[in-house]
Amino acid sequence: MSLKDKLDMNRLPSHIAIIMDGNGRWAKEKGEDRLFGHLHGVESVRNIVEGCAELGIQYLTLYAFSTENWDRPENEVSGLMSLLVDTIRKEVPTLNKNNIRLHVIGEVNMLPEDARAELNEAIAETGKNTGLNLVMALSYSSRWEIINAVKQIAEAVKAGTIIPEEISQAVFQGYLTTSRFPDPELMIRTSGEYRISNFLLYQLAYSELYFTPTLWPDFRKENLYEAILDFQQRERRFGKTGEQLKTDRV
Ligand code: IPE
Ligand code: IPE
Ligand code: MG
Repeated sequence: MSLKDKLDMNRLPSHIAIIMDGNGRWAKEKGEDRLFGHLHGVESVRNIVEGCAELGIQYLTLYAFSTENWDRPENEVSGLMSLLVDTIRKEVPTLNKNNIRLHVIGEVNMLPEDARAELNEAIAETGKNTGLNLVMALSYSSRWEIINAVKQIAEAVKAGTIIPEEISQAVFQGYLTTSRFPDPELMIRTSGEYRISNFLLYQLAYSELYFTPTLWPDFRKENLYEAILDFQQRERRFGKTGEQLKTDRV
């Protein structure tokens, strides 16, 4: 029996975010180059995107490349960029077939010209799809995003289009790159690292965090179901007491 059959389909998270980590170590275990790990990581991306679409998950955010990852060795960065361009080009028909809409968050100006062009094309070509929203975090870091939001708000105050008293959580959220998406209910990190690494710091305020030792290239649908099952067993209290939640439910 697949773990899928154990899932409560009425209590699925609407937004899952994943830090896809461990490609390098996976390759090293096999005596291969780090890029070999990234190449196999793409298989996991395909499998998990498909798995989320099948379940009817509305948003999946994948941390694919951080601002800090630009400091990796040049050959790894350029290899990752070529892999990105190649993958997007090949995947658009499958995204359309599965009604998946692509979005990108991050400092995209930092990406090479061809990668940006491919991305823009794929975003436009999948723009009318109404199923899963696949959000790729590319050249993304949360501190960059927050500083960027603050700068834009400061400009708006200077221009007189907003007054400081009006800056609420809802207004602030409108300036984040994720303004169109709800906060993730579940955040998964693979590879046994217990950290956030500059990912969605604001948006993860009340997310359930799930850490697994599985390296990203080994992560498949069954692992995803396991994470969701774990999520479904948790009590999300949002600062209230467990007792309050019980009375709220009746
Ligand atoms: C995640 O795997 C992919 C990216 C950060 C691009 P890593 O490349 O970080 O793999 P490890 O953590 O070194 O094993
Ligand atoms: C986080 O992984 C970024 C992505 C998965 C894209 P890293 O491997 O870069 O994170 P650290 O350096 O271990 O914190
Ligand atoms: Mg890593």
